Amino acid sequence: MCGIVGYIGQRNATGVIISGLKRLEYRGYDSAGLALYSSRRQALVRVRAVGKIAGLVSRIETDLPDHADPDYTLGVGHTRWATHGAPTEANAHPHLSRNGEFAVVHNGIIENYAALKERLIRKGYIFTSETDTEVLAHLVEECYEGDLHCAVAAALEQVEGTYGIAVVGSRHQGLIIAARKGSPIAIGAGQSEAIVASDISAIIGYTKQVVFLNDEDIATITAETLDIASLKNVPVSRALTHIDSNLDQIEKGGFEHFMLKEIHEQPQALANAIRGRLLEKDGTTRLGGMQMTSAEIARISHISIAACGTSYYAGMVGKYLFEDLAGLPTDIEQAAEFRYRNPIIEPDTLMLAISQSGETADTIAAVREALRKGATVLGICNVVGSTIARDTGRGVYLHAGPEIGVASTKAFTAQVAVLAMLAIIFGRARRLSGSKGRELVRELTRAPAIVAAMLEEEGAIKVIAEKYARSEHMFYLGRGYMYPAALEGALKLKEISYIHAEGYHAAELKHGPIALLDEHVPVVVAVPDLPGKSKTISNMQECRARGSSVIAIATSGDDEAISSCNDVIRVPRCLEFLAPIPVVIAEQLLAYHIARFRGCPIDQPRNLAKSVTVE
Ligand code: AGP
Repeated sequence: MCGIVGYIGQRNATGVIISGLKRLEYRGYDSAGLALYSSRRQALVRVRAVGKIAGLVSRIETDLPDHADPDYTLGVGHTRWATHGAPTEANAHPHLSRNGEFAVVHNGIIENYAALKERLIRKGYIFTSETDTEVLAHLVEECYEGDLHCAVAAALEQVEGTYGIAVVGSRHQGLIIAARKGSPIAIGAGQSEAIVASDISAIIGYTKQVVFLNDEDIATITAETLDIASLKNVPVSRALTHIDSNLDQIEKGGFEHFMLKEIHEQPQALANAIRGRLLEKDGTTRLGGMQMTSAEIARISHISIAACGTSYYAGMVGKYLFEDLAGLPTDIEQAAEFRYRNPIIEPDTLMLAISQSGETADTIAAVREALRKGATVLGICNVVGSTIARDTGRGVYLHAGPEIGVASTKAFTAQVAVLAMLAIIFGRARRLSGSKGRELVRELTRAPAIVAAMLEEEGAIKVIAEKYARSEHMFYLGRGYMYPAALEGALKLKEISYIHAEGYHAAELKHGPIALLDEHVPVVVAVPDLPGKSKTISNMQECRARGSSVIAIATSGDDEAISSCNDVIRVPRCLEFLAPIPVVIAEQLLAYHIARFRGCPIDQPRNLAKSVTVE
């Protein structure tokens, strides 16, 4: 996600901010910028650039030749991972107020920015970006009456959503205002200097004494002092924490691998994916990026999904969702097939291109083929401004945050959540009733909690992983919504542990592959307490009769399934349409711990790339 670095003190702020932003590069970003107070000009100066920090440094050297002067002792910087608005220089932070006296850097999402923006435009404020953040810069100017702390507090009182911000003002060259609500802000207290950052990796090079803000805290920071208050200006005290972890540990959030960190980020990633998109009262969801009218939605008679790898398996879940919840015939195809087999696309076909990176070559080609045939195409991507997002011009962003581990985890579960929200919209344009829609929306609201409960099973999963870590072959079985979950589970194991794993439909096993089973081939069976469970339990017994050990992924408390296996991974109970989410998280953790026991390089498996940008 985005990164914030602010500095006030005796050093050259440019150097501190740039080195701090470099520490945050691992979080993923697509543009960067900084604003400094120039005592010579008695004004704020700002430099921004699309792409990597190296590009920003070049721009600084060109636009601000005196940037290394010792009088630049105050500033804020930002690395942006685009959410609202493509990764352009105009959208890069910091954002300035209309009068140029205030600069704001912001992490988070301002949900009511459109209404605030409309009011400010009516008052004559001129916007130069598509971002929600720019609203804050103008609000600070609007609220300013001489006290920067009060102006920022008054501005934040009007904001709904999440924020982690740092603000500087040209009339207040001795201080930085920082605040948080839902997006972390840490303040490093050094010797006659302070560093504000969204992540302590930017701080620990200068000091290990850090204060973490709580939600709705607002801090007034000078080189010598730190005063924290509530938005209502009630003083609060926050403990000083001594940081003793090293940089590598911090970038991974204390986890051993990015993959494990991202597995554990899934409650937050899902909360971000559904934030502001669930309309429980109306029993539906709102996905503004679709840019489709109700009439256009109602006219769609067929859905075609194209994707690769894990995204393809998410698309398979999508097929069940659209046919189950919306009664819409849905095809799912590997993008490489779609692009070459002259697909049948009618004017009332909706194509969904699912891609975490938005840069997968086969999926890009499938999008262009569908567009050539006049289809309505939506991109379901995680990376804002990616090629697929730009080619389609509309779609739904996952908001799952950067996915660094090559093995896709949080993107899959966010894709399933987005597909479920889409299916509800299309269902409510057809036969899905308001009451059924409300039930589905309420269950989606529970998704982060369901995932958090699933993650609590990690210890039990680790024990099972060690037991089977030396296997050379494994099968994954499932039926219905669990069939794509089985395929995804097999892929996770294959790609990070190098064990030969095969996903199969539970009922299909006896049509041949069961010949492969013996005591050396364990079988993972996705068998939550859903329709068809008893038939899958029969398949489990068929496997055990051939000597295979069966690892059941079963609903907590479901004694029938639990008594039919050798080992069990318990998943929280949830409605069928969301069941792939906890089941696949169980499979992610199983694959991770098996790979870890085998000593595999989990974040960068051999032969694999995070984004397959070639055919
Ligand atoms: C999944 O763990 C793999 N990294 C791979 O299958 C990936 O899902 C596939 O390459 C598609 O990538 P995309 O979602 O970025 O298009």
